[in-house]
Amino acid sequence: MANKSVWSDNRFWQRSAAWVTGFASVLLIWLTFDTLGQIDMGTDADLQNGVTKRVPGPTVINYKITYEMDTKRGHEVPVIGEKEKFFGRDDYSEEEAGALLHLGKLGSQAKNCMNCHTLLGNGAYYAPDLTKAWLDPAWGPDGSMQAMTGKNTKEEAMAEFLQHPSQYPTHERMMPNLGITEKEAQGLVAFLKHMSSIDTNGFPRNFGKIQGAVHGK
Ligand code: HEC
Repeated sequence: MANKSVWSDNRFWQRSAAWVTGFASVLLIWLTFDTLGQIDMGTDADLQNGVTKRVPGPTVINYKITYEMDTKRGHEVPVIGEKEKFFGRDDYSEEEAGALLHLGKLGSQAKNCMNCHTLLGNGAYYAPDLTKAWLDPAWGPDGSMQAMTGKNTKEEAMAEFLQHPSQYPTHERMMPNLGITEKEAQGLVAFLKHMSSIDTNGFPRNFGKIQGAVHGK
């Protein structure tokens, strides 16, 4: 008995399992709280004071968002810049912007965008990921979508497309008309603009490779 190896001792394995489980639990609890802090939505005051939040507050729709390379982190990050008009205004209050975003979020659920697209990686792979769709240069002043839809701002072009996607087929696959109203389309575009401002650690990885997406207009 005295020579029994530690590796064949049940007590050793039981204790190891208990320690590993205990350590993993503590680590998971810590990571959960750390994540909750990281994804806490910012406020309008944060935006006005230039405080960078991973998930900016709803009033980020009052600002220009660009995608810039962060060499230290090795991927692109959204950068919130100067004030920019969104459907003619750059003074949405926290309540107004929040309500618009809420409308967009409900719309995205009611029309089930995730049935074809991915949002922050969740959803289906039939149509392009929408996480950074707002930053897609196709909608910018040098892209084709403004001319195609006859609109001269990004948000109006996108809202027009969302209301009548089958009129503007740009890929081999076509997005069907989903009966989206003008107001819903505005909410959805606000929702997409806000989502593009979220720091997703460079996700989706391939988005920055789109010509003109980085440091775009
Ligand atoms: C039945 C499938 C389907 C559903 C549901 C769907 N889409 Fe699409 N969507 C597509 C396809 C396919 C394309 C690419 C075709 C194109 O651009 O003409 C597309 C393109 C887009 C684009 C342009 C992509 C880009 O990066 O420029 C946006 C924005 C968009 N969809 C938003 C939405 C939103 C918001 C919803 C939910 C309200 C939605 N889609 C629901 C199939 C779908």
